[in-house]
Amino acid sequence: MKKTILTGLRPTGNLHLGHYFGAGQSWVKLQDDYNFYLEIADVQALTDNFNDPEKVRKNVKEITADLLAIGLDPNKVNFFIQSQIPEIAELTVFYSNLVTVARLQRNPTVKAEIAQKKELFGNDGESITYGFLGYPVSQAADITAFDGELVPVGDDQLPLIEQCREIVRKFNSIYGNTLKEPVPYLSKTTRIKGLDGNDKMGKSLGNAIYLIDDEETIKKKIMGAITDPNKIKKDDPANPDICMVYYYHKLVSPKDTVSNICKECQKGSRGCVLCKKELIEHMNNYLKEIKERRKKYEDNPELIEKILKDGTEKARKKAQEQIKKVKQAMKIDY
Ligand code: TRP
Repeated sequence: MKKTILTGLRPTGNLHLGHYFGAGQSWVKLQDDYNFYLEIADVQALTDNFNDPEKVRKNVKEITADLLAIGLDPNKVNFFIQSQIPEIAELTVFYSNLVTVARLQRNPTVKAEIAQKKELFGNDGESITYGFLGYPVSQAADITAFDGELVPVGDDQLPLIEQCREIVRKFNSIYGNTLKEPVPYLSKTTRIKGLDGNDKMGKSLGNAIYLIDDEETIKKKIMGAITDPNKIKKDDPANPDICMVYYYHKLVSPKDTVSNICKECQKGSRGCVLCKKELIEHMNNYLKEIKERRKKYEDNPELIEKILKDGTEKARKKAQEQIKKVKQAMKIDY
């Protein structure tokens, strides 16, 4: 029997290259070999976007379209919307007794997010809500509601999986062996740098190329990408290793082109403008297939609705079986 994997995504914006190389691409490879649940985590998105419900609602469909566009097959992947599975919310309440506030505050992912919020909004932590602090508990419910065995995630999510494992162990030790302890699945992915050279490509950093960016937008972004600052004149030799244009060439351009670019850049026989123009072309080629697939769904939005509806129905059945076991174990099965 195929093992169950579960992963999720907060619907707060479209997918960019960072998501694609950092996760999406590996999910496409996993879909053949596993029983794959993919959660559109709208409830989790609301923990820090509760004042912008329109944004979350719009992005449920946007992000589903992006995921289908990168090649996830709805016949192999069970897409579902978190908010439509009330059993997840129930489990969250039950699990919240099994984790201390201090432990949540020490969770490295939560800690980093709180620090980032303080930096962005300059508050002293007063505005961190109960819901936001508790989202790792809700994520543990996401995973265990489906008996998730493997959770394919980036390394930034490891503390959340660890938190889930602790909750599972605590649950099993008190109420009897009921839940499976999930294991993180770290596939070979690449963390993508931003156009500005920042170590991370991110929406809030304003340095991302989105899968849906049109050719004009891609042109503008690439023309503005950071190159070797020591290269002033067109024929100055330069260091491709500190150039974002070369960095993206390595991701999307044909292999032989890439080694030529490197040599020419080091020799000084290649100007940055030409190099950027070539990258624009290769980037557009690279994204072409993804955009074509997406267009099918853009033209037929009812397809996306059906995929989400059917997937959510199937997921709900599984969650209902699971909550039955949990309530029995907790002696609240009236
Ligand atoms: N926390 C994840 C993120 O921010 C999204 C997520 C929600 C998730 N539920 C999950 C990931 C369950 C793995 C498993 O991207």
